[in-house]
Amino acid sequence: MTFDRAHPETPAAPSDERASGSTFRLDGKTALISGAARGIGWGIAEALARAGAHVILNDIDAAALAERSRDLSARGLSHSLAAFDVSCEEAVVAAVQQAVETVGAVDVLVNNAGLQNRKGFLELSYAEWRRMLSVHLDGAYHLTRAVAPHMVARKHGRIIMIGSIATQSVKVPSTPYVAAKGALTALTRALAFELGPSGVTCNTISPGMTQTELTRALQDDPAYEKFIRERVPLQRWGTPADIAPAAVYLASDAGAFVNGANLVIDGGVLAML
Ligand SMILES: NC(=O)c1ccc[n+]([C@@H]2O[C@H](COP(=O)([O-])OP(=O)(O)OC[C@H]3O[C@@H](n4cnc5c(N)ncnc54)[C@H](O)[C@@H]3O)[C@@H](O)[C@H]2O)c1
Repeated sequence: MTFDRAHPETPAAPSDERASGSTFRLDGKTALISGAARGIGWGIAEALARAGAHVILNDIDAAALAERSRDLSARGLSHSLAAFDVSCEEAVVAAVQQAVETVGAVDVLVNNAGLQNRKGFLELSYAEWRRMLSVHLDGAYHLTRAVAPHMVARKHGRIIMIGSIATQSVKVPSTPYVAAKGALTALTRALAFELGPSGVTCNTISPGMTQTELTRALQDDPAYEKFIRERVPLQRWGTPADIAPAAVYLASDAGAFVNGANLVIDGGVLAML
């Protein structure tokens, strides 16, 4: 059986004002960001909101979400909250359904929710392996599966996976994390191929070492700090604010022809032997 990729209409390119700031605007768009209560997800949510999008912040931590909501409200930024565990299919389906009914279809999905487990492979239990895959990979699957039909129906959508440079080079033990991120990066290309003809793009952003709760233990380790100074060409940690503009770019008209890409943002660490 062959996969018919023919599309009845020739998709139009956006108007060619793309070097101007306005094509990075997201006014009228709705973006759903998983794991948005802190760290990179919060940085992305805030940046998308500042670019004009209505942002739906998801996280498993409802209390932290409420704090973020107060912050966004104080700045007059349009948003809503959706507390659920991305690895729970029923919760994802219900939340997306509610979002579509209340704020309309989701134009931009950022699959960011994640956790870490730095146990060695031989110490790791099967349950710990499964948990890592179920949050990173199944979570992205559930959200994409729930949101993509609406995008395809409207012939427009942007899906952004948060991968990691760990898929290319490993510094600390984290086998299930690396496996999950590798699968996400491959899934990006498969979706770029399959959904592209329907006007939906899918890309990965792969951050390098970034200062968030996830890397707290490494930030507190003087040896790791020394590694950052000596082995990252820009000689510092990344911050969520270093990562977030890439999501705005990929979500906006400026990124209209970017599809299936893996955008590495790592201060150059992968470039250095
Ligand atoms: N920090 C880094 O150096 C780095 C590097 C590469 C990739 N990443 C990736 O970036 C993403 C964000 O990480 P971060 O560094 O901001 O971490 P973080 O711990 O600061 O934030 C992760 C957020 O995800 C939420 N979350 C965890 N499990 C969830 C679930 N089941 N359902 C919903 N929300 C859940 C957490 O509550 C938290 O708010 C992750 O996918 C991570 O793997 C981080």
